[in-house]
Amino acid sequence: MTSTDKFAAIRDQFPVTKRMLYLDSAHQTPLSLHVRDALTAFISEGYETAGPKPVWLRRVEQTRANVAQFFNASSSEIAFVKNTSEGLNIAANAVPLTAGDNVLLIEGDHPNNAYAWLNLKRKGVEVRFVPLNDNEIATAETFEPYVDERTKVITLSHVTFHAGQVHDVAGVGKLCKDRGLYLVVDAMQSVGVIPIDVKALNISVLAAGTHKGLLVPQGLGVLYVADGLNELKPAYLAMSSMANPPADYIARADDLAVRDDALRFEYGNVNLPDLHALDAAINLIQDVGVAEIQKHVMALGDRLLGHLDALGIAVVGPREAGRRNHIYVLQLPVEQWADYFSRNNVRVSPERGGIRISLAMFNTVEDIERLVAVIRSGLEALPSPVTEVNA
Ligand SMILES: Cc1ncc(COP(=O)(O)O)c(C=O)c1O
Repeated sequence: MTSTDKFAAIRDQFPVTKRMLYLDSAHQTPLSLHVRDALTAFISEGYETAGPKPVWLRRVEQTRANVAQFFNASSSEIAFVKNTSEGLNIAANAVPLTAGDNVLLIEGDHPNNAYAWLNLKRKGVEVRFVPLNDNEIATAETFEPYVDERTKVITLSHVTFHAGQVHDVAGVGKLCKDRGLYLVVDAMQSVGVIPIDVKALNISVLAAGTHKGLLVPQGLGVLYVADGLNELKPAYLAMSSMANPPADYIARADDLAVRDDALRFEYGNVNLPDLHALDAAINLIQDVGVAEIQKHVMALGDRLLGHLDALGIAVVGPREAGRRNHIYVLQLPVEQWADYFSRNNVRVSPERGGIRISLAMFNTVEDIERLVAVIRSGLEALPSPVTEVNA
């Protein structure tokens, strides 16, 4: 099967593509037939057999192995959590930090990462916001001037939600390795659309929800914690966190040793239906390959940028290959254009700097052409000319 045929077959898996022009995967994924079938199978098992929990739990471990392979990690390094924000908060409370230590973040990065670390101000931890323009990317040089002997963590999004920048995580990872810092990465926007090798990138902790590039409904997150970082301790404990869980289910105050693997950060029941669906979703993604998906969305992005240039519409984020991927924020006034796109059955997101278009594996060249036709009509129909956008 050629790559074009593969992507055409993928499109058939996403019924939403027959109903609207969906360019909003950075907000949430539409569900695929694979995922629906996995969820339906789970529900049938639930109502027909009241849930074969041991079978379900075995499948969780199968999904864990699948997720681990996806990130070039081992199963012992993967915990399942609720979402990205929970993963980042777990990381912020696990890293050993004391009053006077500092953490570096990019100014304007996702607020949920910022708040996770700002919450440590009550312990006397300093959060340093490093400035960066929306059309630049963060590299080791961006952070280096802010690192001192009390810096313990650098944390950033891999891809930003508001400008689509692809930060140089590899370069920042090398800086962290050289300076003995923890690198905590928010991969919510990159997972499933950019290959991620946690080892090659020297990531200490990675958090990602699964409802965008990993194609399942909200309520499940993946947390990678590198093996060997045993000094990272969980803020919450449950049986599943413990090194020696009591067989009689009676907690022992004299044995609070926690597991060495990432399961020390998992507590209570996890989102079983989503985990079943995630296994199917990852298989779908791996059938195509993340590198192929990345090539596909980049080619669509090239085409989009070409049209935007011809129309005189600027984008907020970087334009160079390698610094952008699948998110393009068009400098169009949100008040008029969000409503205009909605009236024209085009699903996009309003963002700080304009209208966010996000591309996914099921989008096609025809989608880009349709979008451009809608924009062209809008430029004629809407009262404010595009040249006034930044006035
Ligand atoms: C970069 C980034 N980080 C974090 C989040 C929050 O994700 P979650 O709802 O999984 O916590 C989002 C949501 O869009 C995001 O884009």
